[in-house]
Amino acid sequence: MKPPIRIAIIGLGGFAGSHHTTVARLEERGQAKLICTCDPHTDGFAKDLETLGFAARGVQVFADYRLMLAACARNLDLVVIPTPINLHAEMHAAVTALGLPVYLEKPPTLDHAELERMIVADKRAAKSSLVGFNFIVEKPRLALKERLLAGEFGALRSTTLSALWPRPASYFLRNDWAGRLLIADRPVLDSCFGNAMAHFVHNMLFWAGPHSLQSWAQLATVQAELYRAHAIEGADTFFVEATTATGVNLRFALTHACAGTASHNETLHCERATLQYAVGRQIEICWHDGRIERSTPEPFDGLECNHLEYYRYLRGETSRPATSLVDSRPFVALNDLAHVSSRIITPFPPNLVSGVRDEKEQKDYLNITGMNAACDSFLSHGIWPGAHGWNHPGSEITTPTDLPRFEATVRKMATP
Ligand SMILES: NC(=O)c1ccc[n+]([C@@H]2O[C@H](COP(=O)([O-])OP(=O)(O)OC[C@H]3O[C@@H](n4cnc5c(N)ncnc54)[C@H](O)[C@@H]3O)[C@@H](O)[C@H]2O)c1
Repeated sequence: MKPPIRIAIIGLGGFAGSHHTTVARLEERGQAKLICTCDPHTDGFAKDLETLGFAARGVQVFADYRLMLAACARNLDLVVIPTPINLHAEMHAAVTALGLPVYLEKPPTLDHAELERMIVADKRAAKSSLVGFNFIVEKPRLALKERLLAGEFGALRSTTLSALWPRPASYFLRNDWAGRLLIADRPVLDSCFGNAMAHFVHNMLFWAGPHSLQSWAQLATVQAELYRAHAIEGADTFFVEATTATGVNLRFALTHACAGTASHNETLHCERATLQYAVGRQIEICWHDGRIERSTPEPFDGLECNHLEYYRYLRGETSRPATSLVDSRPFVALNDLAHVSSRIITPFPPNLVSGVRDEKEQKDYLNITGMNAACDSFLSHGIWPGAHGWNHPGSEITTPTDLPRFEATVRKMATP
């Protein structure tokens, strides 16, 4: 049995709470050992500290992550950073300055220039940091990409993604960074694209990554229309089209401005087959000759699998983390260029926005009339909703050379 990976987790609540539960389970299996944790509001977590058995497990609890690192760094193999996006870079810098690698929650940052600084900082760590995009370690996904790369389905022509995840008004009030474009005058860009559905967009870039299993597509052009229904600074709806350096077309529609059942579907259009991948639901390969292959993926605990895969890398059993900071470049650039292309966030026409009360959940949602039809027209035919009732004045086709305009664009977007 290998010695357990010695871990610190920054944060106690929100998604940090899920990391704590996972690490506690992996500790019982001898895979991990939580050495320390911290949160500026430790008082509010007395019950959680008890439930997680910190006293019995000998976990040290601090109020400040810098104090925690100063006291415990020598006894650590890994620091988990599942904190607000705007704190990722500073925390990652503090940890890697000590030579330690990070399990950094996605998105690493949503600012391409900050990502470059993080990539440089990461070189100081003994091992590359992992960015926690959940689904890259899924075995059926990896198996399907192997088949794609082997040419079984013919060339990949295009991929589409639709992800409609209802979020109630309270979701945007849960912390001080939800739905924000800027915090402390720096881009944070929290949105369905940058946060909740970031996984799926990163997955699209993974499918279109042409060189090897763990490669992500490089971008050639990006065009986007951004909308909002909720009372937030950022966008809650994105319609985006991009082309990759190898000529694959990517089109996706993402929204939190919807009600009812959540849906997400990744589709790959290849020369000889169309592949549908719905995380947690079904994988379907429709061959153009009429054959259909269907499978239901095994239940997948994304957090546990990502922890275990990363431990294997830290122990030298694999050669790389599932997604590194470098691998995240196309995702961050795509998000940034979508903002540059759209230039503005268009409010939905008020007559299309209706409130939907979920009595069971006691939560209030906003729903856009015609959202499903608009997604279908865009994904199937490339019809932009701006010219068909949503009043976006038209976006610009951008390329990576437009990235230097990102920060000024976001500042202008955030100006009332
Ligand atoms: N992989 C996934 O499926 C998944 C799911 C949800 C969230 N996330 C990601 O996790 C991250 C956190 O999101 P969240 O919604 O849990 O955020 P959050 O605002 O709830 O914060 C998470 C934790 O960080 C703590 N924290 C805040 N400031 C801190 C500081 N200065 N020092 C130490 N701890 C501090 C908070 O107290 C909280 O415990 C984000 O990057 C988000 O995108 C990932």
